[in-house]
Amino acid sequence: MAAEWLKTAVFYEIYPQSFMDANGDGIGDFNGITAKLDYIRELGCNAIWMNPCYDSPFRDAGYDVRDYRKVAERYGTIEELKELFRQVHARGMHILLDLVPGHTSEEHAWFAESGKEERNEYSDRYIWTDSWMERADGIAYVAGERERNGAYIINFFKCQPALNYGFLHVKERWQKPIDHPACLATRAAIADVMRYWLAAGCDGFRVDMADSLVKNDDGHKSGTCEVWRDMIGQVRRDYPETALVSEWNDPVSAIGRAGFQMDFFLDWTGNGYNLLMRDYDDTGRDDSFFKKDSPRHITDFLQEYLPKYEAVKDKGFYCLITGNHDTVRAAYNLDERELKLAYAFLLTMPGVPYIYYGDEIGMRYRALSTKEGGYTRTGSRTPMQWDSSVNHGFSKADPSKLYLPTDNSEDAPTVEAQMKRPDSLYNTVKGLLRLRGENGAFARHDNLRILAAQEQTRSFAYERGDLIMLCNPSGRSETLPVDVSGAERIYAVGSGRPEGRACVLEAQSFVIYRK
Ligand code: NOJ
Repeated sequence: MAAEWLKTAVFYEIYPQSFMDANGDGIGDFNGITAKLDYIRELGCNAIWMNPCYDSPFRDAGYDVRDYRKVAERYGTIEELKELFRQVHARGMHILLDLVPGHTSEEHAWFAESGKEERNEYSDRYIWTDSWMERADGIAYVAGERERNGAYIINFFKCQPALNYGFLHVKERWQKPIDHPACLATRAAIADVMRYWLAAGCDGFRVDMADSLVKNDDGHKSGTCEVWRDMIGQVRRDYPETALVSEWNDPVSAIGRAGFQMDFFLDWTGNGYNLLMRDYDDTGRDDSFFKKDSPRHITDFLQEYLPKYEAVKDKGFYCLITGNHDTVRAAYNLDERELKLAYAFLLTMPGVPYIYYGDEIGMRYRALSTKEGGYTRTGSRTPMQWDSSVNHGFSKADPSKLYLPTDNSEDAPTVEAQMKRPDSLYNTVKGLLRLRGENGAFARHDNLRILAAQEQTRSFAYERGDLIMLCNPSGRSETLPVDVSGAERIYAVGSGRPEGRACVLEAQSFVIYRK
């Protein structure tokens, strides 16, 4: 497998707007991230995924790219980004940029050309119908904006026209098959963009909406998979070590067929991942598994997770996240103890874990007015809370100039305060990551075995190599039929003890034994 380092990788996701502002203009920047690399390393993360940092009108926080090869001025210069890459590597770490291959900004030069009446090299770079009156059946489209007589398909917001990778099932005259020269040109252009950034020094990409490329695709997305195999092949010829994680939520396609090494288990309402920490609605109901009083069993998660895990465990990594820039922060509804148990689970499971900046201190979610297309996501994108100085140490700018307001509540968590408290969430994460780094069983990813997951208890247990993890998220002591007699207890939140051939777990405990 390419990028062997992924086996022991732990990622830290950085939303560049909000992590650290080095030049005091109120928005985060490359130099700010560079200045905090030792913090990330000390926490125990050895890899970074940074959200888009390219030139953009920022109508979707940078997921609307205006120029793939230019960095957004607000984050600094290309030299500063390259220095960030160098400093990452000097610490034995790796960094992924965010690749947005499915669409560009409507302000991209390709799109300006594509919208012209006269045919040119870019006319088919995007997907246009043959007439302004012709609608794209079942696909979102825009008409009336350009001089060209046609409607164009969008991929997400209106400002994001879809790039043309073709249609698996061609039904209209204007739809191109995926091997049409215009669609192959799109592939080549995006592969070029990838090579450009790999040459500049990044280690790979998190790929936005990786499943969205081919339209009228089938259930397995076989058209999109074929396109990815080709593009990844093109890039790996020159950069064989490229690391790639897809935003797909289907590892069987993404890893098994398209050629990604990692795929996220994304937070989609009602799915197995969502039930762990975000199973609530606005009536006040909260059945999230890690809530102390939840009625849920871990089987709700496992029945969705395990078949997919089994299908890809020899080929790549099915990745669990604490959250990301699109989710509500986990601390919205979970308290510190509940978060500790959830993180202990996420950080001891197979796959490469991803920690969203600030989740390690339990940064909170607040309902805020939308910023750059964030809407309900905006509250998860606020400035990192470093210390108790002005703007929580994020920026020296006047508070009115900040990208988003900081959390000014009296008890807002900060890195500084949590570093000092031995039992803080920060120190729990750090301890778990140290353990993950020290035990070879965590570097294998095909070794998960469920030992106990019954409907009678909320507790469950699993094994990885010589390690046994036991978790009781409930408010009562519970006994699991797992024999840990003679095993060494190497980690505990709360407590557990062997009793004959069983293990008694106190309320809200997570315990690890080494056989
Ligand atoms: C997924 C990204 O994570 C999200 O933030 C963005 O708005 C959409 N893709 C569109 O690119």
